[in-house]
Amino acid sequence: SRAYASVEAPERTHGNLSDADRIFTNLYGRHDPFLKGAMARGDWYETKKLVELGADWIVNEMKASGLRGRGGAGFPSGLKWSFMPKVSDGRPSYLVVNADESEPGTCKDREIMRHDPHKLLEGCLIAGTAMRARAAYIYIRGEYVNERLALERALAEAYAAGFLGKDACGTGLDFDVNIHYGAGAYICGEETALIESLEGKQGKPRLKPPFPANVGLYGCPTTVTNVETVAVAPTILRRGPEWFASFGRKNNAGTKLFCISGHVNNPCTVEEEMSIPLKDLIEKHCGGVRGGWDNLLAVIPGGSSVPMITKDVCDDVLMDFDALKGVGSGLGTAAVIVMDKSTDVVDAIARLSYFYKHESCGQCTPCREGTSWIYNIMKRLVKGDARLEEVEMLQEITKQIEGHTICALGDAAAWPVQGLLKNFSPLIRERITASSDAKKIAA
Ligand code: NAI
Ligand code: SF4
Repeated sequence: SRAYASVEAPERTHGNLSDADRIFTNLYGRHDPFLKGAMARGDWYETKKLVELGADWIVNEMKASGLRGRGGAGFPSGLKWSFMPKVSDGRPSYLVVNADESEPGTCKDREIMRHDPHKLLEGCLIAGTAMRARAAYIYIRGEYVNERLALERALAEAYAAGFLGKDACGTGLDFDVNIHYGAGAYICGEETALIESLEGKQGKPRLKPPFPANVGLYGCPTTVTNVETVAVAPTILRRGPEWFASFGRKNNAGTKLFCISGHVNNPCTVEEEMSIPLKDLIEKHCGGVRGGWDNLLAVIPGGSSVPMITKDVCDDVLMDFDALKGVGSGLGTAAVIVMDKSTDVVDAIARLSYFYKHESCGQCTPCREGTSWIYNIMKRLVKGDARLEEVEMLQEITKQIEGHTICALGDAAAWPVQGLLKNFSPLIRERITASSDAKKIAA
C-alpha cells in the first residue's frame, strides 16, 4: 500500500549523487568484477531472505520504488512484472534479459556486464522470483565478446557457490540462467524479435498484442526486460523503495546510467540522479563541451531513436522521461550524443538514416520502403543536391512511417529526421539554394 513514487520529491537541484548512493560502484572496473569483489560490494547478501519474501512482495516493492524500464521505453517495471500469471496454467514462465544493447550511443549495459556481472545474475534470481519463473535467458549482443566472457565466468561462480541452479541460495527453489549470443542484428533488441531469435527463427518482430506476458518465449508467459532494470533490483530491495524513490522527480525516480559521447572533453558512462540538468551532466562528468558550452549546437539526449534538441533547449532541460518528452524528445536509453558547432548536422542524421535503412527487417512496407526513401533524400540533402519540394516530401514520408509499422524501428527512423527538419530546415533550404546557384554559375 506504500506509494513512494507518487510522493513529490522535495524541491532541490538534482544531480549530486554521492558514491554511497551509487548502485554500480564498480562501473569503471577499478575493483574485482567477480565473486569475491562482488560480495565485498554487497551482492548476494542475504538474497535468500529477499526470495523468501515472495513474488508479490518483490513486485510491490518495485512498484513503490517508481523504477521505470531502463531499456528505452520507460514502462513502469513493477507493473510490467505484475502482468505475469500468478497461477500457472501448465505453461512455464520465463524471464528474458535483453542484453542486445545496440542503440547508437548506448554503452551502459556493456559496463554492467563487464564490471558488475553479479548484480545482473542476482537480479535474474530476484526478477525471476517476482515472475514465478524458474529459468532466465540472457540474450547478449553478439559483438559483446568480452562482456559475454565476463558474464559466463560470473555465472559459473554463482552456480559453484549454490546461488543459482538447484536449491538456489538455499531457498528450496531451482533457478537456472542461460546465456544466448545474438548475431549482430539491431532488430533483435526489439523484444518480440528477440524472442523469435531465441527460438531459432529470423529476428522479425511480432504484432503486439498479445504481449509477451501472455504469449512469449515458446508460447509461454515471458517478460523481456533490460539489463540495467534487472541489475538494480536487488539493491532497491535491500535499501528500500523509498531510498530509490527519493532520487529524481515524481514519475521519474531513481538513479540512472547515462552514456555521454560525441563532442565533449571526456566521453563517459556515469551513474547519476535522474532529473539532473543536462548541462550539469556534461559539465560535471565530461569536462564540458569541446570549445565550451557556447560551442554547443545540438544534443540527441536518448540514443539515436529520439529527436535532437538544440542548445537553447539544452541550457535548462532536465534529464528525465517527462522533461525530455515535454521538449519534444525523449530519455530513451539515456545515451547523450553531443554535437558542437563543427558538426554537419544534416550529414550526421543522414548517417543515422542509413543505419535504420540497413537494420530494417523489411517486414512492413512503410518501414522497408520508407527508410530507403528517407536515406536517398538525406544523401542528396547533405550535398544540397535536392529540390526544395523534397524537404516537405521528406517530412511527409516520416509521417507515413510513424505509427504505421509493426515495431518501433519505423518510428525510430522517422523521429531523428523530424527533429532535424524541425530545427534545421533553414540550413537545409540554404544548402539547396546555394548548390543550385553554384550549378547555374557553372553552366
Ligand atoms: P513499448 O512501449 O512498446 O514497450 C515497453 C515494454 O512495456 C515492453 O516490454 C512491452 O511488452 C511492455 N508493455 C507495453 N504496453 C503493455 C501492455 N499494455 N501490456 C503488457 N505489456 C506492455 O516499447 P519497446 O518497443 O519495447 O521499446 C522501444 C524503446 O526501446 C525505444 O523508445 C528506444 O528508446 C529503445 N531502444 C533501445 C535499444 C537498446 O539498445 N537498449 C535499441 C533500440 C531501441
Ligand atoms: Fe521490421 Fe521495420 Fe516493420 Fe519493425 S517497423 S517490423 S523493423 S519492417
